[in-house]
Amino acid sequence: MKVAILTGGGDAPGTNAAIRAVVRKGIDRYGYEMIGIKDGWRGLIDEDVMPLNLNSISGLAAKGGTILGTTRTNPFKLEGGPQKIFKNMKKLGIDALVAIGGDDTLSVAQKLHEMGLPVVGVPKTIDNDLACTDYTFGFNTAVSIATEALDRLHTTAESHHRVMVVEVMGRHAGWIALEAGIAGGADYILIPEKPFDIEEICKYIRKRQARGRNFSIVVVAEGAKPAKGEEVVYSSDVDEFGHVRLGGIGYFLGKEIEKRMKIETRVIMLGHLQRGGPPTAFDRILATRFGIAAIDLVKDGKFGFMAALKGNEIVSVPIKDAVCRLKTVDPKLYEIASTFFG
Ligand code: F6P
Repeated sequence: MKVAILTGGGDAPGTNAAIRAVVRKGIDRYGYEMIGIKDGWRGLIDEDVMPLNLNSISGLAAKGGTILGTTRTNPFKLEGGPQKIFKNMKKLGIDALVAIGGDDTLSVAQKLHEMGLPVVGVPKTIDNDLACTDYTFGFNTAVSIATEALDRLHTTAESHHRVMVVEVMGRHAGWIALEAGIAGGADYILIPEKPFDIEEICKYIRKRQARGRNFSIVVVAEGAKPAKGEEVVYSSDVDEFGHVRLGGIGYFLGKEIEKRMKIETRVIMLGHLQRGGPPTAFDRILATRFGIAAIDLVKDGKFGFMAALKGNEIVSVPIKDAVCRLKTVDPKLYEIASTFFG
């Protein structure tokens, strides 16, 4: 049997660990021939592939990014895209496909599955916004990077008696902001799920000042927006899945706070630092477990399914259930975080 792997969408630490697991068990335990599809769905459209063997995956558990490369190519935006995929699957003699991706990549996998493609999914995104799985790999690493940044910003904020506004990724879900904000001791956390009121934030900063804490750390998710306003975008150009490029809410917030509070404010956008470098141990293990589960799904012929985490169990769920809605933050966790505001 010949099995192909592709990685699509934003890269996430742990992706290579998942590839390593799929290839190792596929070759060693199931005797499969394994190949890599370059740059997500683009590679299958362009027949851009690479062989994968036990040497290809050596040392991958600790390596960030994806050795296969990735893009945000959407085959359904290309004339004859899906047809090319089926044609090339046949031409390359591929019997099954493992798609490692977030909601965009796996939505394409689902549509192609409905057209007959033998595909299984592995949930990957730093945003942790995929339904039906408690966590996606990449998220823990992004939270760890953001938390370390918050720890570092505390010392400079305190020294200069400043408000530091830290903008984190997460697209339209606030998971990174919420979990990094709790771990990093943020004095306020803004998330897309809860449109904000600037005056409310200023109230909490004043509350700290009243007890002599003349600095504050405010964490804001890139998709957060004011109650009476819109998301701030870096560019309104959309990608092939209709996503704008978010970015800049932190600067909007910093200027507003400085204007109203007459307190020095600085803004830090963590951006792609949250996706860079080696995965945490948690993400290496989760990605490995997902990869093993995915090649087992192939062995069992359970196409249209995705590996998922429920509690500490790895289960399989229909891809269609995972991509049909955005997994937004748990209000109970935000309530816990708010205990420490101000
Ligand atoms: O989906 C992961 C993610 O990092 C989002 O949090 C972010 O908005 C987006 O990707 C950035 O996309 P790109 O790397 O294409 O600029």
